[in-house]
Amino acid sequence: LAPLADLAKQRGVQVYHLNIGQPDIPSPPEFFEGLRRYQEQVVAYEPSRGNLALCKSWSRSMNRSLQLETDQNHFVITAGASEAILFSIMAVTDPGDEILVFDPSYANYLGFAAMAGITLVGIPTTIQSGFALPSIDEIATRITPRTKAVLVCSPNNPTGTLMKRAEMERLLELARSRGLFIISDEAYREFVYDGATPVSFLHLEPRNPALIITDSLSKRYSLCGARIGTVISVHDEVRAAVQRMASARLAVSSIEQVAAAYMLDTIPADFLSKALQEYQQRRDLLVRGLEAIPGSIVVRPQGAFYTIVELPVRSGDEFAEFMLREFDLNGRTTFVAPGSGFHVAAGGGKRQVRVAYVLALDELRGALETLAAGVEAFQRKYGA
Ligand SMILES: Cc1ncc(COP(=O)(O)O)c(C=O)c1O
Repeated sequence: LAPLADLAKQRGVQVYHLNIGQPDIPSPPEFFEGLRRYQEQVVAYEPSRGNLALCKSWSRSMNRSLQLETDQNHFVITAGASEAILFSIMAVTDPGDEILVFDPSYANYLGFAAMAGITLVGIPTTIQSGFALPSIDEIATRITPRTKAVLVCSPNNPTGTLMKRAEMERLLELARSRGLFIISDEAYREFVYDGATPVSFLHLEPRNPALIITDSLSKRYSLCGARIGTVISVHDEVRAAVQRMASARLAVSSIEQVAAAYMLDTIPADFLSKALQEYQQRRDLLVRGLEAIPGSIVVRPQGAFYTIVELPVRSGDEFAEFMLREFDLNGRTTFVAPGSGFHVAAGGGKRQVRVAYVLALDELRGALETLAAGVEAFQRKYGA
C-alpha cells in the first residue's frame, strides 16, 4: 500500500498515517547529549554481546522502575527487538520446528519465522471476546512434538490489549508442564493506561530459565532509528546460543549504544509518564472517533498505541486500498493497515484494520473524520 500512499501524495492529497507505529514524541535530550559525549578517535566495534555500560544501565533502569532484580550479565544487546526476537527464536528451535502465537499478532513475526525456517502456529483470538486468550486446554491442542515456544506480546501490537496476570500464570504453567520456552516481547511494557502498572514476565518468575524476554528502546524512548534492543535470559545455554549469533554478526552500532547507556542513567522518570499522558489522551479521542462509526466494533486499548477495529466494510484490504487509490475528503485521506496482515492463519481479520495513534491530537481528529467519511463512501460504492 505504501506506493499507493506515495501516488496519493503526488496527486496533492494529504495522507494521515495511522498505518505505522513510528512514535512522534521527540527522542529524549539525554540521548542527544550522550551522542555529543562520544569522544573516541576511532569508532571501534563494541563487544558482540553489547556495550557493557549499556547492559549495566539497562539492567539498573529496569530494576529501579519495575522493582526487579535483573542481572546485567543476563543481557545481550541486539539491533532492536527485531534481532532480539529473531535470535531468541533461532536459539530455541531447529528448522522445521513450531512456535505458537496468538492471532492477530505483530506481522514481522512471520518474517523472523521465515528467516529461521520454522512455522508459526496461529491460535485465533476474537474481537468479540476482546482478544482474550483461549483456555489453556485449547492452547494445548496446538502443541506438537515440534513445538518449542510460545511467543507473546503484552501490551499487544496490534490489538492494544494487556495480558491478565492470571493468563500469564497459566501460560507459565503450560510451558512448565510441556517443556516449552516463553518468548515475551516487551517492547511496549511501560505503555499501559488508566493507572495500570507495567508487568513483565520477570515479575512472576524472575529466575525461570524457560523465560526469554526481548526488549527495545525504540518505542519507549522514541528511538526507533537507534536500533537498540536486548535479549534477557537467565538460561546459560540460551544466552550462549544468542551470543554465538551475536558474534556472527559482529556488533551493534557503537555510538548509539554509548548514547543509550548515558540516556538510561540520566533520563528523568517523568519522561515516560508525560509520554503516557499524551498517548492516553490520543487513545481516548481515537476510541470515541471509532465508536462513532455506525456498525464498528471497537476494543478499548489498554496499552501500546494500536488498536484493531472491525469496520462495516466487506474487506479491510479493499477498504485500505480504496482510501489511498480513490478517496479524499477535502484533499485528505487516512492510511490504515489491513487486519488480515496480522494473522498467521488464513482468512483472519477480514473486515478489520489496525490503527496506530502516533499523531498529535489535531491530526488524529482529522484522520478520524476522514476515516469515517471514507467508510461511508466505500459503503455507497461497494455495499457494507
Ligand atoms: C510488537 C513489536 N515487537 C517488536 C518490534 C520491533 O521493534 P524494534 O524497533 O526494537 O526492532 C515492534 C516494532 O514495531 C513491535 O511492534
